[in-house]
Amino acid sequence: MKIGYIQMEPAFLDREANLDHAAEMLEKAKDADIIVLPELFNTGYNFQGKKEVNALAEDAETGVTSTLLQEIAKENDQYIAAGYAERIGDKIYNSQLLVGPGGFINSYQKVHLFCNEKKFFEPGKSIGVIDLGEARVGQMVCFDWFFPECMRTLMLKGADIILHSANLVLPYCPNSMVTRCLENRVFAVTCNRIGEEHGLGFIGMSQITATDGGIMHRAPESSEETWIEEVNPLLARNKDMNELNNIIRDRAVGAYDLR
Ligand code: ACM
Repeated sequence: MKIGYIQMEPAFLDREANLDHAAEMLEKAKDADIIVLPELFNTGYNFQGKKEVNALAEDAETGVTSTLLQEIAKENDQYIAAGYAERIGDKIYNSQLLVGPGGFINSYQKVHLFCNEKKFFEPGKSIGVIDLGEARVGQMVCFDWFFPECMRTLMLKGADIILHSANLVLPYCPNSMVTRCLENRVFAVTCNRIGEEHGLGFIGMSQITATDGGIMHRAPESSEETWIEEVNPLLARNKDMNELNNIIRDRAVGAYDLR
């Protein structure tokens, strides 16, 4: 199957422009079975106050962003994962939407909030895996990568491919995904953004990483890019490293007891 990302530069607080731009870029990604957009792709990231994010937060199923992405997913017969600000009641989450040819599938609320995000968003409470038929996917948003437990849990729950929407500002993630994928034997699509907002620069370098830690492709640091790779998700179901080591069976769970 074909998995890919759209590394783009969102315009801060200009949702209409961002939706138009993403729709344009998705036109060139029709071939992908699963395509990932950045964290908060439709709003920008570096909010200066809660009012800004409050004005743009949306319902997961009926919001303008979800409605548009559902239409495109249906038209392109593909799955789309994209970061957005989600409103549930009076709470706002930094979430990743997952839609497909049949409409809305899931909204994952980012569990590990980074820095000022804690001023604007509620943290999510759970992570999970969704079976799309051809592949089982795990959802992740940016700083979640920093906590090895996150990808480990998704792997143990059966994920083949991690859909990782990001707004990376620190330089470590692209190289670290090599280890995360290797130690879990899963694929990952890390979709980052480029540009700068209120003095905060984003590092680009979106990446598709293979189950052996191989970097299938890494994007440039400062230009937009749509990229698609062909993968066999079933490779992620083989957790044998050699005839004697299996990365699930060999975990010494008793030895990790903290008492
Ligand atoms: C981040 O989690 N957006 C750094």
